[in-house]
Amino acid sequence: MAFEKTTGGASGRIGKAPSACDTPSSEPCAVLIVGASGDLTKRKLIPALFYLFRNRLLSDGFFVLGLARSPMSEEAFRASLEEAVKDNKGFDARLWAEFARRLYYLQAGYDAASLKKAGEVMDEKARAHATGPNRILYLSTPPSAYEGVIEAMAASRLAAEERGWARIVIEKPYGRDLESAKALENTVSRHFREEQVFRIDHYLGKDTVQNIMMFRFANSIFEPVWNRHFIDHVQITAAESLGIEKRAGYYEEAGVLRDMFQNHMLQVLSFVGMEPPSVYESEAVRDEKVKVFRAMRPLDRGSVMDNLVLGQYAEGEVNGASSRGYREEEGVSKGSIVPTFAAMRLFIDNWRWQGVPFYLRSGKRLRSRFTQVTIQFKAVPHQMFSRLFEEEIGPNAVIIRIQPDERIQLRFHAKKPGSRVCLRDVVMDFGYTEGYDGLVLEAYERVLLDCMTGDKMLFIRSDAMEMSWKWLAPALDYSEGRGKAAPELSLYRAGSFGPVEAERFMASDGRKWVDYER
Ligand code: BG6
Repeated sequence: MAFEKTTGGASGRIGKAPSACDTPSSEPCAVLIVGASGDLTKRKLIPALFYLFRNRLLSDGFFVLGLARSPMSEEAFRASLEEAVKDNKGFDARLWAEFARRLYYLQAGYDAASLKKAGEVMDEKARAHATGPNRILYLSTPPSAYEGVIEAMAASRLAAEERGWARIVIEKPYGRDLESAKALENTVSRHFREEQVFRIDHYLGKDTVQNIMMFRFANSIFEPVWNRHFIDHVQITAAESLGIEKRAGYYEEAGVLRDMFQNHMLQVLSFVGMEPPSVYESEAVRDEKVKVFRAMRPLDRGSVMDNLVLGQYAEGEVNGASSRGYREEEGVSKGSIVPTFAAMRLFIDNWRWQGVPFYLRSGKRLRSRFTQVTIQFKAVPHQMFSRLFEEEIGPNAVIIRIQPDERIQLRFHAKKPGSRVCLRDVVMDFGYTEGYDGLVLEAYERVLLDCMTGDKMLFIRSDAMEMSWKWLAPALDYSEGRGKAAPELSLYRAGSFGPVEAERFMASDGRKWVDYER
């Protein structure tokens, strides 16, 4: 059960504005989406902007210019976006019409002349919508086009902050290894100051990921036991039941290590492992997160082999439907050695975490979709009940369910009611949104809003991005067989919990994975 002092929020644009505790409103600005005919605009960006609009979190001075190569009229662009949001909860045709008047389309390439044209259109629309000179430049093209587009933005002076601010938003994948990430960084930093650069990791926009900091640092009861003296190990799992959908081209290049570990998994890890910042400000928080990356024990060829299990899904059944194996997916090569599952053990070499293993696991086409952090505490030092009970008394755990069914659970033992002395495992359970009827923001809504308000806390800083690539490099080399033959992938049935090797890997440490339980 949760008690709270404030609730805020608004149910619609015509309703009450959110309280200050909820969310700040954005500053007037224009949004240029480069590559706007793609999936991201439809699935994430426009639904998120519309939600912010409906909830009065967008300034009235606001419009979107979508730029893409596909021939399309402005009406068709608006209609395709309406199609994408129409079925969402709370859709309101009148509000959509009001919002859609702020959506424009420009058919153009990614060269300097096209971006210059985009700049002219934006100037004209800025006057009509009173946005002033502020602009967000959202890169939504295939990553191979990033550097060219950035150069073109610079040449057309879109990157310049002559009167207002100009912020560039860069989606993952940010490079495909340390070298390419550095090359991209080099291009970015020649034209944008670090303050202008917003590198997105949408996991940071998840409320429950941010809440890890609140849970740890706004309470006095957890932090004293959040260390090697009390914690046996930590597990972070991001399991997906989806496969690669229509993204074979991307996934064949990425694999699970680039797709989930370099970014989302390590970001969650940094929140679990960080020291308390002295103030809740973006640079102070990001400094502490970087320190975690710096303290991660480096991998090398030998240690990678002992600390990593790589798997790939074979055919099976997910949620009652038969599912083909990864190599049978459209666009995947028959002999693909791309891992769709990885489990790894890592250590953070500092005073707090010395000797505590962190187990990270993520995969596609698993039995269910859940992301959770499990903090497993040490067993009691002396089993005083052992004469009474046959079985061992298991350890306590805090489970932070990031998604779905967001909750925090404390697992402990209690006496079974009655005359006999028996124990049972019980759960103290906090449902993240239970008892709260205010506004809830999804990841993209959060990060877009933060970009508009200039809050960089939930964006990746360049040093963190480089460090995560550097740390992961030996694992990538190993998984791709650079230098030696590629490792055997452990196949797992679609719809299972992953390869048996991942179970054995945990069992060899005398531990077990904690799976999703309600
Ligand atoms: C993306 C990955 O970054 O995150 C996808 O590219 C993955 O492969 C997705 O499915 C998972 O995000 P979420 O929010 O559904 O956990």
